Amino acid sequence: MIELSTGFKIEIMGASGTFGFNKGYLPDRILSRIGYLDFSAIDVVVTKTMTRHPEEGNYVWYKPWGSIRFIKDGIVNAVGLTNPGIEWWCREVGPKLDSLKIPLIISIAGNANEIKEMALMLNKFKNIVAIELNEGCPNVCNNFQDTEEVIEKIKILSKISIFPIILKLSVVHQPEKIIPYIEDFIEAISINSVPWSVAFPNQENPFKRYGIEECGVSGKIIQSHTWSFAYEISEMISIPVIWPSVWESSDIRELKKMANAKAFSFGSIFFYPWKLREVLNKIGQNKKDS
Ligand SMILES: Cc1cc2nc3c(=O)[nH]c(=O)nc-3n(C[C@H](O)[C@H](O)[C@H](O)COP(=O)(O)O)c2cc1C
Repeated sequence: MIELSTGFKIEIMGASGTFGFNKGYLPDRILSRIGYLDFSAIDVVVTKTMTRHPEEGNYVWYKPWGSIRFIKDGIVNAVGLTNPGIEWWCREVGPKLDSLKIPLIISIAGNANEIKEMALMLNKFKNIVAIELNEGCPNVCNNFQDTEEVIEKIKILSKISIFPIILKLSVVHQPEKIIPYIEDFIEAISINSVPWSVAFPNQENPFKRYGIEECGVSGKIIQSHTWSFAYEISEMISIPVIWPSVWESSDIRELKKMANAKAFSFGSIFFYPWKLREVLNKIGQNKKDS
């Protein structure tokens, strides 16, 4: 469990893209309603990343396989930043925050000016748990070397936002060039999917035929990448890391024991409901027993 400066505690976080912009995607809502999935173990959910203006991205409902694919022990996605824009969220979701079943962290991405504008717009909703700055999206951010820009955006965000800040990085970032400069401004670090070119060098990505050059791999299959990155960061600083790529309840046990992990994000496991059920039930059981 980690505790934000506001006192909000997080052990289990639904990662961005798993729950839509407010109350979850329809299949999960149905599975929750019929009692197959019990989301009470999830402390908070991160919205799908939003931008200052609506973005088409690569996802279209009538052809989901054009941007999302199942692979063994994981998911590959090239969804990009498909989203209706922050103004839509402020109009349609923000005013109803109190009635949502799970508290929300808002994920945003953009240039420094857009981040500033979005932070100002979000300030009027008092019940947001935190803002997550998405700097690690493999199919959108292509210049992971520009560490100065990440630092600048975090500083702007921390100056303007009234909420705790979480920075979402990619395993291809060089954390030593970013984190020492922003340690005072962020409260946790989360980790995005791994670029296909890093997970499977020399293999063509499944969306190449649609002209998509890069995409993100997530799930058990990338644990070696995300966990070693998380470990590297947790050795470097005292700011908590939210560990990704949980695939079964034993992962949580192992990470707590081996790496003293205190918080976990659930990403692609949402696409494998029987696995999600196993992990959620186990957490629920442990809570009851303790
Ligand atoms: C279909 C899909 C959509 C995603 N959309 C976003 C997004 O909008 N913003 C973001 O920061 N991460 C997004 N992600 C990445 C996840 O939040 C998570 O960081 C990633 O899947 C790694 O965690 P995992 O190994 O536990 O799945 C998405 C992942 C998937 C599979």
